[in-house]
Amino acid sequence: MRTVKVIGVGMGNPRQLTAEAVDALRSVDVFFVLEKGSAADELAERRRDLCTAVVGAGDHRFVTVPDPARDRSAAGYAEAVQEWTAARSDVLLDAVEAHLQPGQTAGILAWGDPSLYDSTLRVLDAGRSTGRLQVEVTPGISSIQLLAAAHGISLTRVGRPLQVTTGRRLADEGFPSGCDDVVVMLDGLCSFQHVDPDGVRIYWGADLGGPDQAIVSGELGEVADAILARRAEIRSRRGWVMDTYLLRRRIPRR
Ligand SMILES: C[S@@+](CC[C@H](N)C(=O)[O-])C[C@H]1O[C@@H](n2cnc3c(N)ncnc32)[C@H](O)[C@@H]1O
Repeated sequence: MRTVKVIGVGMGNPRQLTAEAVDALRSVDVFFVLEKGSAADELAERRRDLCTAVVGAGDHRFVTVPDPARDRSAAGYAEAVQEWTAARSDVLLDAVEAHLQPGQTAGILAWGDPSLYDSTLRVLDAGRSTGRLQVEVTPGISSIQLLAAAHGISLTRVGRPLQVTTGRRLADEGFPSGCDDVVVMLDGLCSFQHVDPDGVRIYWGADLGGPDQAIVSGELGEVADAILARRAEIRSRRGWVMDTYLLRRRIPRR
């Protein structure tokens, strides 16, 4: 059976790789990279550069696998994603079987930590469940850990829950009920603009851990415009921006 190591590599800064991740990177013979042909490929490039910086030229090699396109015209989002995952799984498993010699180890670099909004493990599930692959995971530092560190805050308050959600869900459903601390990821539309700002603080960060790191915090109603401006500035300069934020609602005294 072939082994695939899914290695969380943080946000591209070699100093934020764990020692365990460095060991895992050094043990890989062939790295597989799904490439989309979009801005996301710049991230793939950053992961590859990180790997070379840490492991050196070495004996390992990279195999690029064209990422099948998702059908964005499909009516059901969940079904479209399911089909897309199956298509990605097929091309990746075929590539692993074609390029990996017996006894060799495959590696896939996951941005941040693979447990958070990363499809790698889901894509590999078909290989695991059919016994074609064995998967080993090395955790990485995620954007939300860097967000908390950059602001010097804890994401959780005493005995209270934290919800991690997407910008799309925040826009569609508003601030979740039953929870006063919400981390929002995958938000290209700045959905915090549609949240009632009364009693809500935001802790925002873009390009955390990277050369353009920017953070802003304050009462949502007071800093929302500054965040929009900062985000637009990074985006116009670089072509893309990745950001995440915590919304923290004031808890009324009893
Ligand atoms: C596909 S998810 C991958 C997240 C990753 N697995 C992690 O551990 O953070 C991509 C989302 O993570 C967040 N993100 C990734 N890199 C970031 C960075 N350097 N700064 C701020 N947010 C980032 C953004 O919300 C982005 O839309």
